[in-house]
Amino acid sequence: MKYAIITGASRGLGEAAAKRILEEGISVVSISRTENEALARFAEENNYSFRHITCNLELEKEVEEVFSDLAFALFKKNPEKIYLINNAGVVDPIEKVGNLDQIPVLRNFQVNLAAPILITNTFFKASQNMETSILSINITSGAGEHPIEGWSIYCSAKAGLNMFTQTAALEQESMGTSNQIIAFSPWIMDTGMQETIRSAAPEAFKDLDRFKEYKEQGMLRKPETVANALVDLILHENIINGKIYNVNDLLN
Ligand SMILES: NC(=O)c1ccc[n+]([C@@H]2O[C@H](COP(=O)([O-])OP(=O)(O)OC[C@H]3O[C@@H](n4cnc5c(N)ncnc54)[C@H](OP(=O)(O)O)[C@@H]3O)[C@@H](O)[C@H]2O)c1
Repeated sequence: MKYAIITGASRGLGEAAAKRILEEGISVVSISRTENEALARFAEENNYSFRHITCNLELEKEVEEVFSDLAFALFKKNPEKIYLINNAGVVDPIEKVGNLDQIPVLRNFQVNLAAPILITNTFFKASQNMETSILSINITSGAGEHPIEGWSIYCSAKAGLNMFTQTAALEQESMGTSNQIIAFSPWIMDTGMQETIRSAAPEAFKDLDRFKEYKEQGMLRKPETVANALVDLILHENIINGKIYNVNDLLN
């Protein structure tokens, strides 16, 4: 049996990836604060194996409890493979350094960086002495490699996620496990996150007009297009451990 755990499957890229993975016959566990009832119905109507667990990834205790319980429940079934898709993300706070507030900064790091680290740690630990192999996929951003004014927190969190991915991959290689960990950069997609970006204050975000143009000129990809590229990659390609994949290299 194969399982996919997808954080942020309530909308955007996570929802599109969940649908496509269900269609591949893989059991999906969705994790987010809100439940997407349409997604649950889609799974039920098609007899797909689907479960939603409500969890706020800002809260490290909740992350610890939910994912330890989930790992325990899944590993008991001795699954062949677990795809761990750390997709949930937040772009806020969009603000210049000097005007940042403490709580949004810490929340951003919790969701974008600490939660993927803690979740991967829990699952890699649970996989020790088991036959199950884990493929952990951290959804990153070009902003993790290129600075964008107003996005210092998001850029830093995604840069940290890239480095975590590369370091953890080296460790798994050295230990000779069958676990792999990669990052996947989805470029720009027409999701709620882009709405948040377009509603930023012009004085806080220098590139606001450029991001409005992406939408006006139809340059944002549908999340379904990006999800298909992601799922084709993880299910059908030879994965290079530690690689930061970019959707633009996969779609032509
Ligand atoms: N959209 C883009 O152009 C773009 C570009 C580059 C990278 N990315 C990355 O792609 C990934 C998906 O982005 P998206 O555009 O699909 O975003 P989105 O539409 O805004 O969806 C974000 C998802 O994250 C979940 N989430 C946010 N905060 C959470 C929390 N505290 N606890 C649990 N879940 C939480 C949300 O669920 P709930 O609200 O229900 O909790 C939602 O399902 C993110 O990692 C993002 O950084 C996006």
